[in-house]
Amino acid sequence: MDREFVKKLDDFVKMRLTEKRYRHTMGVVETAGALAERYGADKDKTYIAALFHDACKNLDIEEMNSLVEKYHLDKLYIDKPQLAHSKVAAEILKDRFGVTDQNIINAVSYHTTGRADMSLLEKIIFVADAVEPNRTYPEVKMLNRLAFEDIDRAGYEISSRTIKRVEESGMYLDRDSVKARDWFESILKGDSLDNSRNFAVYAANVLDSKKGEDIIVLDIAEKSSFADYLIIAGGSSIRQVTALAESVQSRADMQGRFVRGVEGKNGSGWVLMDYGDVVINIFTPEKREKYNLEKIWSDCERVDWEA
Ligand SMILES: [Fe+2]
Ligand SMILES: [Fe+2]
Repeated sequence: MDREFVKKLDDFVKMRLTEKRYRHTMGVVETAGALAERYGADKDKTYIAALFHDACKNLDIEEMNSLVEKYHLDKLYIDKPQLAHSKVAAEILKDRFGVTDQNIINAVSYHTTGRADMSLLEKIIFVADAVEPNRTYPEVKMLNRLAFEDIDRAGYEISSRTIKRVEESGMYLDRDSVKARDWFESILKGDSLDNSRNFAVYAANVLDSKKGEDIIVLDIAEKSSFADYLIIAGGSSIRQVTALAESVQSRADMQGRFVRGVEGKNGSGWVLMDYGDVVINIFTPEKREKYNLEKIWSDCERVDWEA
C-alpha cells in the first residue's frame, strides 16, 4: 500500500475528528482488518475504507450542509449529519484523494445504513463500525463474536437493531437501512451465493445485464463429477466475450466468490471460468456452434434463471 497516500488520509482524518472518534476509527480499522483476514477481502481496500469511513463525522452542521450542496447530494441529507457524513466522506475520497475504486467508495458511502446487495467489503465496514472494541452497548461482545462466525447474521442483527433504535428515537429512517435488513434476512433464509444454484442464477443475471446472448444454465450435478451447474452464454465478438467474463469476475469478487481458474482469455473466442461448483462458458457464435456444449449436456435439466 502507498504509505504516503495512507499518511495523507490519516492526517486528514486526525485533524478533523475528536480524540474519541479517532479512537473509534482505529477500532474499526483493527476489527475490519481482522474480518478481511477471516473472510478473504482485500486488506488494503479494507484499510482505506475503515480509516476514512467517519472522516466527516465531526464536521459542524453548516459545513456538512454546504458539502451536501457542493457535491449535489440528495437534499434529504440536509440537516441530517448522521447520514450525510458517510455520503460526504465518499465524495471527498473521490474528489480530493482521487480514489476511483467503487467498492471502497461504496463501503464508505453505505457504512451507516448498509443497503441491498452489499459487497463483502461493504459488509465488513458496516459490521466493524458497529462492533469495534470501543463500542460499549450491552450486546456488543456477542455481536463481535458473531461477526467472525457469520457476517451475514451479524449484519442482520446490526441492521435490525439500528432500525429499532431509529424508530424509537423518532429520527429519519433511511430506506437503505430497511433494504439492508431485508437483504441480510434473505441471505439467512438460504438465498446466499455460497449456494451453487443461487450463484449460477446470479452469474446468469450478470451476463444478461451485460447483453450476454442465449444464456443457458444447466443442472449437471447428477451427470458430472466436477460441478453442479454449467452456464453457457454467447458474446457477439471476441471482445464482448472477454468483457462478459470480466464483468462476472468483478461482480462475483465483490460478493466474496472468487474464481479458481480462467481459460481462454487470450482471444480464442471461448472463455471458461471455473468457480468450483459452477462452471461458466462464454463463446463467440462460431465457437459456440463448433463446440456445441448444449448438445453434449442435452439430457440435463435447464434452470429457469430468469425467474
Ligand atoms: Fe459513521
Ligand atoms: Fe463509525
